[in-house]
Amino acid sequence: MTRLRLAAALLAAGACVGGLGLNSLDSQEPEADGPLRFTERERSIIQTLSPLPPLPQQASNRWADDPAAARFGQRLFYDARLSREGDRSCASCHSPGLGWSDGLPRAEGRNGALIRNSPSLLHSGYQRWLFWDGRADSLWAQVQWPLEHPDEMGFARADLVRLLARDASLRRDYEELFGPLPEGAADAERFRPGGRPPLPRPSDPFNPAPSLEQLAETDPGHAAWLAMSEADRRAASEVLSRCAKAIEAFERRLVPGPSAFDRFVEGLREDDAQKQGALSRSAQRGLRIFVGKGNCVNCHFSPLLSGGEFHNIGLAVAAGEPFDAGRPDGINTVRVDPMNGRGEFSDAQEWASNVKLRYLRYDEHTFGAYKAPTLRNAAVSAPYMHDGRFATLEEVVRFYVELPGLPPVGHREETLLPVPLDEGEIQDLVAFLESLRGTPVDEQLRRPLEPTEDD
Ligand code: HEC
Ligand code: HEC
Repeated sequence: MTRLRLAAALLAAGACVGGLGLNSLDSQEPEADGPLRFTERERSIIQTLSPLPPLPQQASNRWADDPAAARFGQRLFYDARLSREGDRSCASCHSPGLGWSDGLPRAEGRNGALIRNSPSLLHSGYQRWLFWDGRADSLWAQVQWPLEHPDEMGFARADLVRLLARDASLRRDYEELFGPLPEGAADAERFRPGGRPPLPRPSDPFNPAPSLEQLAETDPGHAAWLAMSEADRRAASEVLSRCAKAIEAFERRLVPGPSAFDRFVEGLREDDAQKQGALSRSAQRGLRIFVGKGNCVNCHFSPLLSGGEFHNIGLAVAAGEPFDAGRPDGINTVRVDPMNGRGEFSDAQEWASNVKLRYLRYDEHTFGAYKAPTLRNAAVSAPYMHDGRFATLEEVVRFYVELPGLPPVGHREETLLPVPLDEGEIQDLVAFLESLRGTPVDEQLRRPLEPTEDD
């Protein structure tokens, strides 16, 4: 009989499976108050999970750590004028009050629900790849997608140029950071209303991407772009890339303070029982499962509790949902994105700064894979998974216990096996995930920035 069945049988018989039941089969310490005694092996794994190191360097954005750029980025982040109807900003789907997400299973766009869940932006400065499929290689390259996608903000880079040109305060901030706006920035004959290029899209013989001319026949924004001069198009893309770099500088500041778990690990290192008390005994038992028989650290490792890589964990497509290949589309798209780290708008175009792009290959094993999200602060950004299918952390844990269904494409990663947990252990693992909640980011970042007094 497997442990899972045993647990189920005991449960059905009304047996106690809490602290003294099956749990105690695994525990190596007497039932007493105070911290659990972790083995040397457990201790060494746990210490790789905390503390959070400083942010990684961001070579492709020379303003990444510039405080003035972060302030300008904050203004743009909360500014609804960066949407076609003026009714939504980045904060509409990444709201500070909702864990920098939106509380919805799938984001609500201009034309109804999108196909994916809005990730929290907390710790986004640590991510190697952005989006569930990793189709952007930096936070600044990410911005074009929500900004110009007709289903999201429906805005256009040519309109961004004219907005900056006519708003004296935005213009001053922009020009102090990046130098003068392009010549003719206010001229709608040059920076044509709605003018935007098609979003990056790979082309191959089986699935050729339509040309700009073809797209311009049905999309007025692409027609406007086609009508712009080569030089003005480049200038508009440069303005967008710089505004995006400022937004990245803002997003890099969205790092919560230490969590109960971090205080616990500090205590573990210093052999300080009081500090270890920051984590309840239940959460400590959950931690033992996380690094032990749960195998969660296989994919959720490093201080981010995510390797930032992509895995197929076998989430079946819900009935009626569209087909979504995940990672292969991300790989093919980031390679052709003019805003990637090797592109003309990057501040570090050499391979040495962008090796992660160089070795990017897709094969059948990447089908159906999505990014393993950071588990830090997951407690404040329900619902979960790329399609928001699970409402609570407990539902997520129950998924790993059973691994129901089969993925629609590709295959589930072979290292992922059902984790036999009893009811008490499920609650322990949830308590551990809850303990990864850090203290909120600076209040100043959680609201729109007022223009400075001299405006
Ligand atoms: C309509 C809702 C919506 C708006 C508006 C929106 N986003 Fe998002 N955002 C999403 C969704 C949904 C995803 C995930 C999409 C995917 O992975 O394909 C996402 C993903 C992201 C990510 C990737 C995070 C990660 O960990 O991979 C970042 C960063 C981000 N958005 C920043 C922004 C910024 C900056 C803006 C404003 C320019 C913005 N978003 C506007 C819904 C939105
Ligand atoms: C084989 C790699 C792998 C293993 C092992 C793994 N995960 Fe995950 N985890 C992922 C991936 C990939 C996702 C995102 C999947 C998606 O949305 O399609 C994810 C998503 C999650 C989420 C949702 C986070 C969010 O913000 O949406 C939680 C919570 C989570 N995992 C917890 C765990 C726990 C607890 C364990 C151990 C029982 C575990 N994971 C084991 C790869 C893994």
